[in-house]
Amino acid sequence: MANKREDMVVALDIGTSKVVALVGEVDLDGRLSVIGIGKQPSRGMKKGVVVNIDATIDSIQRAIEEAELMAGVNIETVYCGIAGSHIRSMNSHGVVAIKEKEVTDADVDRVMDSARAIAIPADQQVIHVLPQEFIIDNQDGIRDPVGMFGVRLEARVHMVTGAQSAAQNIIKCVKRCGLTVSDIILEQVASSLAVLQDDEKELGVCIVDIGAGTTDIAIYVNGSIQHTAVIPIAGNQVTSDIAFAVRTPTMSADMIKIKHGSALRQLAGTEIIEVPSVGERAPRGLSAEILASFIEPRYEELFLMVKDELSRSGYDQKIGAGIVLTGGSSLVKGAVELAEEIFNLPVRIGMPRDIGGLKGEVENPIHSTGIGLLLYGVDQQAYGDNHSFVNTNKESFWTRFKNWLNGNL
Ligand SMILES: Nc1ncnc2c1ncn2[C@@H]1O[C@H](COP(=O)(O)OP(=O)(O)OP(=O)(O)O)[C@@H](O)[C@H]1O
Ligand SMILES: [Mg+2]
Repeated sequence: MANKREDMVVALDIGTSKVVALVGEVDLDGRLSVIGIGKQPSRGMKKGVVVNIDATIDSIQRAIEEAELMAGVNIETVYCGIAGSHIRSMNSHGVVAIKEKEVTDADVDRVMDSARAIAIPADQQVIHVLPQEFIIDNQDGIRDPVGMFGVRLEARVHMVTGAQSAAQNIIKCVKRCGLTVSDIILEQVASSLAVLQDDEKELGVCIVDIGAGTTDIAIYVNGSIQHTAVIPIAGNQVTSDIAFAVRTPTMSADMIKIKHGSALRQLAGTEIIEVPSVGERAPRGLSAEILASFIEPRYEELFLMVKDELSRSGYDQKIGAGIVLTGGSSLVKGAVELAEEIFNLPVRIGMPRDIGGLKGEVENPIHSTGIGLLLYGVDQQAYGDNHSFVNTNKESFWTRFKNWLNGNL
């Protein structure tokens, strides 16, 4: 079942800290506007995966109702994200003979099938097979092979797999809310669509989405995705370190971190923060500098883990455009400066831009995944399952989308 309006797409970002439903609408100029947003605390998730079905259903239900009310629509299908340390990724390769000398869509389907035909563990399922490049008779670097002449077609792809149980739990929660899942998308693939520029992907870039439960990484070089990884450490660990160190409830530790935290001691102010105590003890004062001394080592450790992952991937010398930080935990003061020091690369914060409608609300790194899910959904709705948005540049995508809406495709 699809949403009744074909110009409408719905994203459901089931994060560790919050569940967000975004209703997107595409106008005749091909511009995406967010017309409804529902945001609820996430109660049934841990490190990016569902650990409590009923609590997750409750959060989804509330977020969907809120978004429906705001947008004045009835939601039936949603695009969901997936994350967690069960995610595995690998590069693969496929080869087929070109049947009629000129590459057709069917040849592309066959070569993609051949590339995905590798053994994966029985408890894993394929989430994405993302084309990196096509090769025709040894000519590499081809993005769109359809219509080209040759005898041998090869595809290099990036494959992402995830635990069947994790995907099934997401689908179960969504179904129990009376909705259908259109597709499940790796969260950093979605975030990349929302925040990375095409020239960054050409030059080489690493997106680091630091959420509450997981830090999700994707590396793009020569315009295509080359590597993905999930590190099961993010904002929640920083919060629990603060809670433990200053003996305050987790909720207050999170609020203190968000309001007064700094990932660099030099950038911490001189203010004294009032910290609620546990039990019936009186609140205490804590200097911002001491607070930063709990936060800095955690971010440092996290960035060093990302740096290790970068060297393991073999792309550490190829990301000329540097690092793009996104996700809620990228908002801490000093994150960019600390990351620049550790990676010795240019670092920027990535947030969704060029979105209409509730612009003020969604132009925030917290919504990178949600907006990316909408962009992915718009593409799938326009072109169907086999189309790969991931290798297309935004400009041609919007032009083609506009043509599709106008009935010219
Ligand atoms: N200004 C801020 N400074 C520091 N941390 C922040 C700030 N704003 C939000 N955070 C942290 O961001 C995290 C939430 O980010 P986000 O919404 O991206 O996570 P999520 O999508 O729920 O989780 P995940 O993607 O890991 O499943 C929380 O840990 C919160 O403490
Ligand atoms: Mg997230």
